[in-house]
Amino acid sequence: MNTPNKNILLAVTGSIAAYKSLYLVRSLIKSGFDVKVVMTQSATDFVSKLSFSTLSNNDVYSDITSESEWNNHVELGLWADLMIVAPATANTLAKMAHGLSDNMVMACYLSAKCPVYFAPAMDRDMWLHPSTQHNIKLLQSYGNIMIDPENGALASGLIGVGRMAEPEHIVDKITSDLKVTQDLAGKNIMITAGPTQEALDPVRFIGNRSTGKMGIALALATANRGAHVTLILGPTYLSVDHPSITTVAVQSAHDMYEASVAAFANADIAIMAAAVADYTPNVVAKQKIKKKSDNLIVELVRSKDIAATLGKTKKDKQLLIGFALESENEVANAKSKIQRKNFDFIVLNSLQDKGAGFQHDTNKVTIIHKDNKMTSYELKSKDKVAQDITEEIVQIIDKT
Ligand code: CTP
Repeated sequence: MNTPNKNILLAVTGSIAAYKSLYLVRSLIKSGFDVKVVMTQSATDFVSKLSFSTLSNNDVYSDITSESEWNNHVELGLWADLMIVAPATANTLAKMAHGLSDNMVMACYLSAKCPVYFAPAMDRDMWLHPSTQHNIKLLQSYGNIMIDPENGALASGLIGVGRMAEPEHIVDKITSDLKVTQDLAGKNIMITAGPTQEALDPVRFIGNRSTGKMGIALALATANRGAHVTLILGPTYLSVDHPSITTVAVQSAHDMYEASVAAFANADIAIMAAAVADYTPNVVAKQKIKKKSDNLIVELVRSKDIAATLGKTKKDKQLLIGFALESENEVANAKSKIQRKNFDFIVLNSLQDKGAGFQHDTNKVTIIHKDNKMTSYELKSKDKVAQDITEEIVQIIDKT
């Protein structure tokens, strides 16, 4: 079982460490979890509900009722595969230990059927107090799992134990406890992503609107399942930081071609998610082009087709996966690309679908295999689409 489709309920309580939980939400989502957030009233004094709802893409509740509606904490408790209280204040730990239910966080905690984690955050002396230590022992005796607080500077100015664990430590612990299958361990994957820029002169270029989001999401999805990823990334404001992802930054279609051919030699799988310029200026002016006449005609020549080149040299055990962004005759065009470029499967997005393609956080895709097997997916976040594509890859590998 993998992280996809695992639901995490994050309960934020009133501590200065609440700001760290914003990073926690982001990292959990990047790791492929669905995240919903509940907060205590005092947590909302530190960080707004809006920040959490924006990052988690879900409504955030801090009251058992809102505007005459009852917020269903039982449903949230059942929805969660794992609940984490982070930061967990001394006050909330005491309530959890003794079963008090005077707010949304406590109602969810008492309704949760899943494993519950807590990441304490408090001042050193509060942490060391026998009542806090006793409450922690009680919580552990109920099977709740503590993510140990860390040593360092505290909001009070004291130095000692009491800082909430860093978000990446929390994510590591959750991911390994949920036993993310490393079913791509030992696989080398190369991914092209983002746009290319074709220089006209030292300051101008021909480009496109790709951001590289889809390719980066794929790099993370496959790296999280154990692959080593070489991400060949065109110019974009986005970047990725993961120990198993090596980013090769490129500019032009030609740079991307050279980096891809080199990486493909050692790759088990290549995913061609980049929006590569099909044409490039025949001549790049050495100096900035000055305006002279009313018209400027630039001669463009075909750039090399990277996917088709890899398709020609592809060995039987290598997988080659393409993308197609189409505006008409989508399926027929995508199928002809499978043939022309020797893809094992192609991920088709249609420009006709709202929320799909460039500059969206979402995508709606149809995966078409070389044997014509076809699966259409709902509109979903690019992170989720990346997981669907990764799942297709794993299934092919499992069969071979
Ligand atoms: N591709 C590539 N190198 C190129 C052009 C495209 O590797 N020079 C890859 C893309 O990354 C994508 C697939 O080929 O995975 C299809 O790209 P697309 O631009 O849709 O196809 P084209 O062959 O360029 O066809 P057309 O422009 O006629 O739709």
